[in-house]
Amino acid sequence: MNSRGWTLCVDFGTAFSKAAAAPADAWAHFDPTRVRPLLLGQAGARDAFLLDSAVFVDDARLLFGGAALARAEALGGKRAALRSFKTILSVSDFDRALNATLPASIDPHRVFVMRDLVVLYLAFLSEAIDAGVRADAMLSAEAGFDRRYAAPAWRRGDSAGLHNHVMRLFGEAEAVRQALGGSLREGVDIGAAQAALARSRSAAPTAMGLIFEASAAAAYTSIGLAAAVPAMIVLDMGAGTTDIAVLARAGARTEELRDAQITLKQAGDYIDRVIANLTLDTARLKALEDRSELWRLIIAQMRDFKETLFAEGRASIRFKNKALSLSIKDLERAPDFQAFRDELAQAYEQALETARRYAVTDGGREIQSVAVGGGAAAPFIQAMIRTKPRGKGNVKVSPRTATPDWAHAPTFSGNLAPVFPQLAIAIGGALAPKEMLAAGV
Ligand SMILES: Nc1ncnc2c1ncn2[C@@H]1O[C@H](COP(=O)(O)OP(=O)(O)OP(=O)(O)O)[C@@H](O)[C@H]1O
Ligand SMILES: [Mg+2]
Repeated sequence: MNSRGWTLCVDFGTAFSKAAAAPADAWAHFDPTRVRPLLLGQAGARDAFLLDSAVFVDDARLLFGGAALARAEALGGKRAALRSFKTILSVSDFDRALNATLPASIDPHRVFVMRDLVVLYLAFLSEAIDAGVRADAMLSAEAGFDRRYAAPAWRRGDSAGLHNHVMRLFGEAEAVRQALGGSLREGVDIGAAQAALARSRSAAPTAMGLIFEASAAAAYTSIGLAAAVPAMIVLDMGAGTTDIAVLARAGARTEELRDAQITLKQAGDYIDRVIANLTLDTARLKALEDRSELWRLIIAQMRDFKETLFAEGRASIRFKNKALSLSIKDLERAPDFQAFRDELAQAYEQALETARRYAVTDGGREIQSVAVGGGAAAPFIQAMIRTKPRGKGNVKVSPRTATPDWAHAPTFSGNLAPVFPQLAIAIGGALAPKEMLAAGV
């Protein structure tokens, strides 16, 4: 395949999907004005750069993204939107996970399997990406892009096998879009969706590159750094996974130390459940109905709740005229939270030790550290990236902020900087040199 002028990377996230484009030569000639995070949502909206990873099967139609979540919430918990479906990427038997039927709360008609909804969501995502490209003055004239997607690196996973599957799913999604003809943003008729899926089963795969999420985060963080520091450690806490990577620099070359790469299956979603359980305990509700209602309420408001909790150390939620309040100390005392934090701390220290060894061997005395993903703001994550290595060599740790100055530029109307840590993977995936790809072109 001929190389094109721009590279576009999709970060299909457990909670939110994101995408960004960068010139193909960005790694060698970095210019922040030519890094283009794509507007996947409504321009000017708070979450304009994020697309909710959600599908809702309604009576006669399928809804996607924010519309799917809004509809599920309006129905008051009787039905649920399909979320976190990206976690199927971590299942060892991928084929089986894709062909699994869905519970009646998600698909009451019992006509779809997981694969169908994933393909339809990818079609919706691809449509949002095209709209984002059209809305971007620098990209709208481009005829095409080298495409990549980011995925977690599973230690024992078969990346090559998974990659072929994922390229097929993206290929089917493109075919579904063509078959449907119209827009998915407003939702799609169930019968029409089934017909489009049936016609798209043998579609050609979309040629794409695979970049591990941790590599992408590391690429974004290390690009454009004036001072070449020998080692960098990156911690990405999203909704579904927490990834750690170590990047090493030798002269002009940057490479990832693959043996330091770690992925944990606990992240934001897991913390959400801990917080929801703690809030339920505080509320002391007896009736099952009340408990379910509060659970739904807290999950629906979780992002804002966590943002306040992490930023101010305390957050509260109103339920039936009662204010239920939770402090960061309450969270930190919860055994489930402690178990996750301890496992993460252990993994982090192991990776930090790899970074230290590299820094010392290379003659350097400094490691840079950075946290990305939606969880980057969590106080325990910020504390973790300040951990000093235990081993010898008196190596200094320099923590960096995930949000660069240019994210505050007026053109982004203040909407980019707050979500920048979440966009780091899409941006890094678009910037990374080909050598950092785990598979594909
Ligand atoms: N400001 C914030 N403060 C606290 N938590 C936040 C904030 N913003 C987002 N989050 C949380 O971050 C998570 C989403 O982060 P992100 O977009 O990086 O995940 P993802 O890419 O969808 O997941 P994954 O990478 O695991 O597939 C959610 O759990 C969300 O509640
Ligand atoms: Mg992510």
